[in-house]
Amino acid sequence: MPSEGYRVAVVGATGQVGSLMLQLLCERAFPAREVVAFASARSTGRTLAGAGLDGGDLTVRELSEAAVQGFDLALFSAGGATSGAWAPRFVDAGAVVVDNSSRWRMHDDVPLVVAEVNPDALADHHGIIANPNCSTMQMVVALEPLHAAAGIERLVVSTYQAVSGTGRAAVDELLEQSHALLHEREIAAPAAYAHQIAFNALPHAGRFAPGEDHTDEERKLINETRKILGDPAIRVSATCVRVPVVNGHSEAVNVQIRGDLSPERARELLEAAPGVTVLDDPAAALYPLAIEASGKDGVFVGRIRRDPGHEHALDLWIVADNLRKGAATNAVQLAELLHERGLIGPARERAAA
Ligand SMILES: NC(=O)c1ccc[n+]([C@@H]2O[C@H](COP(=O)([O-])OP(=O)(O)OC[C@H]3O[C@@H](n4cnc5c(N)ncnc54)[C@H](OP(=O)(O)O)[C@@H]3O)[C@@H](O)[C@H]2O)c1
Repeated sequence: MPSEGYRVAVVGATGQVGSLMLQLLCERAFPAREVVAFASARSTGRTLAGAGLDGGDLTVRELSEAAVQGFDLALFSAGGATSGAWAPRFVDAGAVVVDNSSRWRMHDDVPLVVAEVNPDALADHHGIIANPNCSTMQMVVALEPLHAAAGIERLVVSTYQAVSGTGRAAVDELLEQSHALLHEREIAAPAAYAHQIAFNALPHAGRFAPGEDHTDEERKLINETRKILGDPAIRVSATCVRVPVVNGHSEAVNVQIRGDLSPERARELLEAAPGVTVLDDPAAALYPLAIEASGKDGVFVGRIRRDPGHEHALDLWIVADNLRKGAATNAVQLAELLHERGLIGPARERAAA
């Protein structure tokens, strides 16, 4: 580490995830000497009040060849196109990039890492490290201890995803539609989604590519789960549903085990798992809720029970804050691990070492 701390870029600093990254770098006392905020040209010159390391203001900068020089670390949350264009330029200029978009996740030479699940994969990085999709992230934190103990054969996943997962504009749209409908006014034509999201449930989280019968969100859940758990044999069925929840994704997950695992043993394993909190007393109405997970960093698991339809399967309910553990918290945890393991430094130097 440079003696006075790292120089860190946050790309997408005006967004929901980027602003949380700035906050978490401060709260968790990441050893940075300077943090620089980047966003689109629309935001250049905007002041982010109190977002600096010392509680001072940050001024948003625009990405340019000159502006990306001299960083040790860059945290990206500005969409796939920005990551595709600019993450390699930060790497060429000597930085390590932790990227929140889907742009690099499935590349063979890019580790896809969840801090509690596969931190050792960080050692193989070539400059870019990918932060998984939010629904995958929370699910694998809960599944890894079960997979390690008994092996997962198949997953059947139904998600109930919050609108914050789509970006700030989608949150505004949900609130505007809800307000209009409660006041018996016409709503504007939907923009964030194909249909009205207020008081509705859309079996359409993500995009359908031409000819595809799954959304890209469902494909991410399938492919990223296998990559992170390091087991391409795991079969995954996924239906991703957008629901009118502001923040916090919920998931009903049916887990078919290769061996045998009782619900009691699964509960013990989950209670001991890093990053997991078990909330499981349904008779007392105790189970994870999106509104309670929102604003917290952990993954919450409840409704742990045997599937009466399959002797080797369990059912779980998994909830987390998609902006925190699903995005910003994991990215900052990865930055901390990179620091602790001496993995921040120009790619050229690492390759030569
Ligand atoms: N929301 C989630 O739950 C979640 C979870 C995991 C991963 N992610 C990923 O994180 C990223 C951001 O999500 P978000 O929810 O924070 O979105 P958001 O609130 O809409 O923010 C988007 C950010 O990207 C910036 N940006 C857009 N175009 C840019 C460009 N051409 N150059 C530089 N910056 C640009 C925006 O800057 P302006 O303000 O200037 O427009 C803003 O800072 C996405 O890649 C998303 O897939 C999100």
